[in-house]
Amino acid sequence: MTRQIVSVVGGDELTSGTPYASVNPARPSQTVARVTLTDAAGFADACRAASAAQREWARVPAPVRGRVIASIGRLVEANTEALARLVTEEIGKPYAEALGEVREIVDTCDFFLGEGRRLYGQTIPSEMPDKSLFTFRVPVGVAAVVTAGNFPVAVPSWYLVPALLCGNAVVWKPAEYAAASAHALYRLFAAAGLPAGVLGIVFADGEQTYAGLDRALGEGLVQKVGFTGSSAVGRRVGELCGRHLQSPCLELGGKNPMVVMPDADLDLAAEGALFSGFGTAGQRCTSLGTIIVHEDVHDAFLRRFTDAVRSAKIGDPNGDVLYGPLLDHRFAERYEEYLGWIQPHHTVLPGPVGRIDGEGLYYHPVVVDGVRPDDRLFLEETFGPIVGVTTFSTLDEAIDLANRPGYGLSSSIYTSDPKAVFRFREGVSAGMVSVNNSTSGAEAHLPFGGNGKSGNGSRQSGMWVLDQFTRWQAMNWDYSGRLQKAQMDVAEITPDLGFRL
Ligand code: UN1
Repeated sequence: MTRQIVSVVGGDELTSGTPYASVNPARPSQTVARVTLTDAAGFADACRAASAAQREWARVPAPVRGRVIASIGRLVEANTEALARLVTEEIGKPYAEALGEVREIVDTCDFFLGEGRRLYGQTIPSEMPDKSLFTFRVPVGVAAVVTAGNFPVAVPSWYLVPALLCGNAVVWKPAEYAAASAHALYRLFAAAGLPAGVLGIVFADGEQTYAGLDRALGEGLVQKVGFTGSSAVGRRVGELCGRHLQSPCLELGGKNPMVVMPDADLDLAAEGALFSGFGTAGQRCTSLGTIIVHEDVHDAFLRRFTDAVRSAKIGDPNGDVLYGPLLDHRFAERYEEYLGWIQPHHTVLPGPVGRIDGEGLYYHPVVVDGVRPDDRLFLEETFGPIVGVTTFSTLDEAIDLANRPGYGLSSSIYTSDPKAVFRFREGVSAGMVSVNNSTSGAEAHLPFGGNGKSGNGSRQSGMWVLDQFTRWQAMNWDYSGRLQKAQMDVAEITPDLGFRL
C-alpha cells in the first residue's frame, strides 16, 4: 500500500492541499508516497503553532532536553535499516551510503545529548568591585528549516537536533521528492516525546514555502531560517531574511576542487576522485567539481582515474554499486542541461554520455578533460556524475584555479609535502580542506559550511552550530548597594610610564 503523507502542525494533520507523488527514481512508475502539499498559509500556521509551543519547551531544563536528544538517537539507531531502506527507495542512494547517512544522525545526537549538560555561559570579572558579569545562551525562538533531498535525513538532523536541544521550536520543510524519508524521521523525533508543536513538518512547494516564510517573518513568528540547497535559492532566502533583519544559516552549492600535486600517490588520488566525483552520483554539495592536476602527472593520473571510472558499477542502489539513479526527474532534467555545456575543445572520457537505457534515472559517469577557466563547466556547480579536469604548473596557479569559481565549500589536495598542504590551506577559500582524502564525507562534529557562493559564513555541526541556534545574553549584577557607573567609577592605579631600565 502506498504511504499517504501530510504535514503535521501543532500535533494536528493538515489533510487538505495539492497532491504530489514522491517516486522511486530507480523505477519512476513506482510511487513511494502520496503527499499532500500545503500552501503559504499552512506554512505560516505551522510557524504560529511552533511559536506558541516554544516558550514551554525552553523552560524544560537543558539536560532534560538532552535526554530527549539521547532518545532520538536511540530510536534512529534501532530503526537504522528501515530508515536506510526508505532513503534508498525514495532517492536512489546506495544502501551502504544510506546506512552511513543514518549513522550521521546518531553521531549528531551523540554529540548534542551531552551539550544539554554543557550549554556553557561564562562568568566574567567586572571593572568594579561587588559586581559580577555573566553570559547566557538563549534560544532564538522558532527556527524554520528548509532542506534538500540528497541527504534527506542526515542534513536535516544537523539543524533539528541542535535547534531543539537549545530550546527552540522548529518548523521543518523537507524536499517534496524525499517526503517519505523526512516523514519517517519526523515520526522518530515525535516518538522520543517532544511535546506537540515543538517540531512541525510541512510539505509545500518552493514558491508557497517562500511566500509562507515571508508571511511568518513579517508576523514575527520566525527568528532563524536554515536553508540547504542551491546558491540561487539561497540568495533569495538571504535577501528575504535580510529584509527582516535576520541572518539565516545557509548551506549552499559547491564547485569543489581537488588539487593533485606531482608528488601525490596517484592511485590514492584516483580512488579519492572516484568517490568524490561519483559517490551519491555526484549529488553532494561536497562532490568534486574539477580536478586540478599538475601537468607532469596529468596523463598518469588520468589513466588511473578513467580506468577506475570505467570499471565502476552503476545500477540498482540496493546492490553493491558506486552510484544509483539521480534523485528525481527535476534533477535529471537539470543534469542534462549541464551536459550541454560540454564543448568541442573538451575531451570526454571514458565513453558514452547521458541517460543509460531503461526506466530508472541512471546516467553514465562523465570525465571532461581540457576544461578551461572560462568554461561554464569550470565555473558552475554541475550536480550529477560529471567531473572536469584541468592542469597547472605552480601551486599558486592551482590555488587561483581552485578559488576562481567563487564558491568555497570543500576542497582537497593530494600531496606528500607538508609545505604544500599548509600553503594550500592558507590560500584556498573553502571552509573545509581535505588532505589526501575526498572532498566529501565530512565528520559530524567538525564545522561544516562554506564561503562565497557556498554560504554566508554560517557553520553547522559540533559546538559551532550553537551560535546559529542561540544568542548571547549578557547580564551584569551590581550588589554594592550604590550606583557604580561603568568607565567612570573605576579605580585607577597610576603607572610610571616614563620608567626605563
Ligand atoms: C550535502 O550534500 O548537503 O560531507 C551534505 C559530506 C556529507 C554531507 C554532505 N557528510 O559529504
